[in-house]
Amino acid sequence: MRGLASFLAGLPFAALLIGPGERIAGVNAAAREMLGHAIEGRHFLTALRQPDMLEAIEATLRDHTPRKTTYHTSDAGRESTYKVHVAHVETDETSGVLVCFEDMTEREQAAQMRRDFVANVSHELRTPLTALLGFIETLQGPARHDEAAIDRFLGIMQVEASRMERLVRDLLSLSRVEGEERVRPREAINLSEVLGSVVYMLRPLARDSGAELVFEPIEDTAVPGDADQLQQVFTNLIENAIKYGGTGNRVTITLDRHPKDPALRLPAGVVRVADTGPGIDPLHVPRLTERFYRVDTHRSRQMGGTGLGLAIVKHIVNRHRGRLRIASTPGAGSEFTVILPLWSA
Ligand SMILES: Nc1ncnc2c1ncn2[C@@H]1O[C@H](COP(=O)(O)OP(=O)(O)OP(=O)(O)O)[C@@H](O)[C@H]1O
Ligand SMILES: [Mg+2]
Repeated sequence: MRGLASFLAGLPFAALLIGPGERIAGVNAAAREMLGHAIEGRHFLTALRQPDMLEAIEATLRDHTPRKTTYHTSDAGRESTYKVHVAHVETDETSGVLVCFEDMTEREQAAQMRRDFVANVSHELRTPLTALLGFIETLQGPARHDEAAIDRFLGIMQVEASRMERLVRDLLSLSRVEGEERVRPREAINLSEVLGSVVYMLRPLARDSGAELVFEPIEDTAVPGDADQLQQVFTNLIENAIKYGGTGNRVTITLDRHPKDPALRLPAGVVRVADTGPGIDPLHVPRLTERFYRVDTHRSRQMGGTGLGLAIVKHIVNRHRGRLRIASTPGAGSEFTVILPLWSA
């Protein structure tokens, strides 16, 4: 068919036409990429191999009724799923079957992520809820008149209820940050000031954990930002450094200015939060910013953690058009670096 190649090339998805002799009369670049480069001209039965798709094409060749089916590929460990639309088509010169591939991979991944997310949230809420219900039952029954037990149980119930409250707060803040991710923050924020106030607020936690907190403010460094969100970034990072640093831990916070940061290709403010704790196995590092990801679930949960802290950090840094870098040497400590474009008047 004249013009077939340019017609197929104009489609925004992989497509091919099966023409006279049930041979493949045309393939666009996306379909060639997916199905191989030498399928043009071949009989469709030898060129396409998945039985469901072959069946649909055969039936449509016979009765001219449109059909839908699915096609799966796995390329270098990447699984893809396509919805395949099979339709009889006619032009002045020829007739055949048009096969179009609609890529469903991202949609399926998003659906899977939603399911995982709901399962994770439910699981995280269920543990404290079960504990609360158990203690309520005990307080109504056997421990009804036991004052010492009542005090102790109420204490535990408070801890569990706070854990739930914290989880809900983190979820809300994550969803707010995600919702605003495309809105650029516009206020001029003084990083040294934000860091100063976070350090001030976390001093008591550091003291209780036996960690030394080192921060020497440098000259004012302004970035376009959202004050509350930047405060949250550094709170989460410094809190982690204190919590996971173990004994004899020193947490050092530095602020530098780079005239031209290699990653951003812009003048940048660079904040480093380093600890001398046990560090993180390189295996875990790329996954730390996933929601609910914890290296040691039990230990983190004991400290009231839900594994949302670094996910929130990542989203806020993205919103600020910055970068988050994580470097760690097991046994020698971890370093979290936040790179933010500087304010330019
Ligand atoms: N400085 C650090 N040293 C060692 N491990 C760390 C450090 N920072 C984070 N981690 C590991 O990364 C995991 C994820 O951190 P994240 O802040 O996202 O969650 P969390 O601290 O467990 O919970 P949350 O921050 O919601 O209270 C932690 O559970 C911990 O295992
Ligand atoms: Mg944390």
